[in-house]
Amino acid sequence: IDIKEFTTFKVPSICKYFTEITTIDELQEAIDFSRKKKLPLMPLGGGSNILFVKPFNGLVVKINLKGIAETFKNDDYVYASAYAGENWDDFVQSCVSKNYGGLENLSLIPGNVGTSPLQNIGAYGVEIKDCFFSLKALHIESGKVETFTHESCNFGYRESYFKNEGKDKYIILEVTFLLTRRNHKLHMEYGAIQEELIKKNISNPTIQDVREVVMQIRKSKLPDPKVYGNAGSFFKNPVISNEKFELLQKDYPTIPHYQLENHTVKIPAGWLIEQVGWKGRNQKQAAVHNKQALVLINLGNATGNEVYDLSFAIINDVKDKFGIDLTREVNIIS
Ligand code: EPU
Repeated sequence: IDIKEFTTFKVPSICKYFTEITTIDELQEAIDFSRKKKLPLMPLGGGSNILFVKPFNGLVVKINLKGIAETFKNDDYVYASAYAGENWDDFVQSCVSKNYGGLENLSLIPGNVGTSPLQNIGAYGVEIKDCFFSLKALHIESGKVETFTHESCNFGYRESYFKNEGKDKYIILEVTFLLTRRNHKLHMEYGAIQEELIKKNISNPTIQDVREVVMQIRKSKLPDPKVYGNAGSFFKNPVISNEKFELLQKDYPTIPHYQLENHTVKIPAGWLIEQVGWKGRNQKQAAVHNKQALVLINLGNATGNEVYDLSFAIINDVKDKFGIDLTREVNIIS
């Protein structure tokens, strides 16, 4: 079965079996089926961070659990929950419209709520770990539902427990965020947000204003998956030691960077890719987006292999020129 319509890259995405589930009972049935057939199981959310390079010889289960709920903690905070199959931006929109603050910088990120903790999605100075409260996940082997606190998720930059030790062991069912009801803490450190607010003459922004501005910035930089298939950032921004950074800075005085703790520096992969000349270029049907080099796009008829080969060429060129290893952020099915 080709499930490319369920992915945002829109390359041929072949799997042996596919099913969609809307209840936990159906999910349990799907797990039983894969167990009986001795086939691997792959949960699928919004399909916005996945690239099929080879057919998947197993069962893909699209998680369509729906529903949102909320409980006030007190006058200041609310617990806002959503089931895994809710579209991420619909959830953000519903929170912002109720004046619940915290997620507005994460507006318009593709994908579903259930996959947001996996890679601790982040943009414009905020990551979900900043307002994450807890999640419920099904432990595939035992069939038990377990609750994970902030601490047990072990969040890092585009990282979590579920991408590491917990990989392939759990299916996230529901996620709860602790959001503000008043005295919102706005995050406006990201330069373009400030610039846009100034342009619009907004001096006392609301969370609605921040959402608007973030959506505008994203639309101007990032390709619309409806036009060109893509999975957002294809690579992570690499983190290098201070020492290595200082050496690089001698050769490239304008290198953009972001100082982290423990003597490391984050370098925007988009800049590295642009420097090696790939921005806006293509190889067969796979291309590097011309407004944001971190994003690889499908020109229309790309195969997973073509995208993968392009990423391979980029990794090699960046390694040759800068001695930096880029790692892929997108889940590669190979
Ligand atoms: N840059 C270039 N050329 C490019 C792109 C970027 O030189 O083609 C340099 C510029 O110096 C720019 C800097 O990189 O100032 C940072 O660029 P940008 O603000 O666009 O952010 P990013 O580091 O490239 C990250 C996230 C994005 C997120 C933005 C905004 C990762 C892997 N990506 O990109 O996330 O939207 O910050 O906060 O951390 C995603 O994960 O799918 C995603 C789009």
